[in-house]
Amino acid sequence: MSTLIPSLVPTTTLLPQLVSSAGHTTDSLALLLELAQRLRNQLDANPTQKHWPLLQGRTVCTLFLEPSTRTRCSFELAAKYLGAHVLNFEASASSFSKGETIADTIETLLQLGVDAFIIRTGDNGFFEPLLAQFGHRAHFINAGEGTEDHPTQALLDLLTLTQQVPLAELAGKKLTIVGDVNHSRVAHATLKLLPGLGLKLHLAGPEAFVNPALAQRFSCTVHHTLEPALQNSDFVMTLRVQKERQTPALQASADGYIQYFQLTHERLQTHCRPSVKVLHPGPVNREVEITSALMDDPTYSLITQQVRNGLALRMAVLLNLLLPTQDVVL
Ligand code: NCD
Repeated sequence: MSTLIPSLVPTTTLLPQLVSSAGHTTDSLALLLELAQRLRNQLDANPTQKHWPLLQGRTVCTLFLEPSTRTRCSFELAAKYLGAHVLNFEASASSFSKGETIADTIETLLQLGVDAFIIRTGDNGFFEPLLAQFGHRAHFINAGEGTEDHPTQALLDLLTLTQQVPLAELAGKKLTIVGDVNHSRVAHATLKLLPGLGLKLHLAGPEAFVNPALAQRFSCTVHHTLEPALQNSDFVMTLRVQKERQTPALQASADGYIQYFQLTHERLQTHCRPSVKVLHPGPVNREVEITSALMDDPTYSLITQQVRNGLALRMAVLLNLLLPTQDVVL
């Protein structure tokens, strides 16, 4: 049974779809984060409960067309802990691999009773046609889209930041994103989600990784050397060097990456604020974008917290989308 906490958390915060990190109001983010934090507290306080059957009778489908550990597993467990049926669609074992279209695949799964689709794709612009065709019949959650978006990662990172600094006090704090920003849907999602909150956003990496045009596209400052980017940072988010999205030419220019951009204790302690915290969406290439010692140092690293917050945040998102008209008592 759920443990009851007296206050009600309304769940009318997001749209019936979550396909973009852009366009969310601060108020709606605050409500979602409050619910996610309550769920996180419940998970921590009741490690063996894992059963809040608020989504009984609903069916959620995970449809991952690119590999994933954290996002896929946390969505699956989030749905199961909330009592939903979960269908894990295996693209390689399905008619999708015989050439069936995504639209015909979705129609088939809708007929089988799926209420919500959690989709990861390598293609930018994947969700627009799906929403136009099916948005009135199902909920869609973007679980990572090409290089452009990954809303639940940006939201769980924001939840992680608010556990260090309250949402209302994030304005003016400096967040520096270091690494392969051009190829990172996590970085793009963060740059879409955070501007309304008044954080100072800085990007750092070699030119092959950080296109100067990003400064115009998003409200941020671009650096091609690490030290000025780190200066007085309150948070540093480092990104995986995405070998699968590199061309040989890009790989060549990335070779000096460790020498100039790897996050180390020394670089952090020399340039950032003493209270600086480090984030990484995972998976990590240990000793490439960050040293193992720093990654595993709880004084600085929030990486394991991000993973645990991902479960709570995704539970909150599922409640928002699938239980939108009710109040949830946790
Ligand atoms: C990221 C992804 O796939 O977008 N991982 C994640 O979802 N936590 C980042 C990556 O693959 O480097």
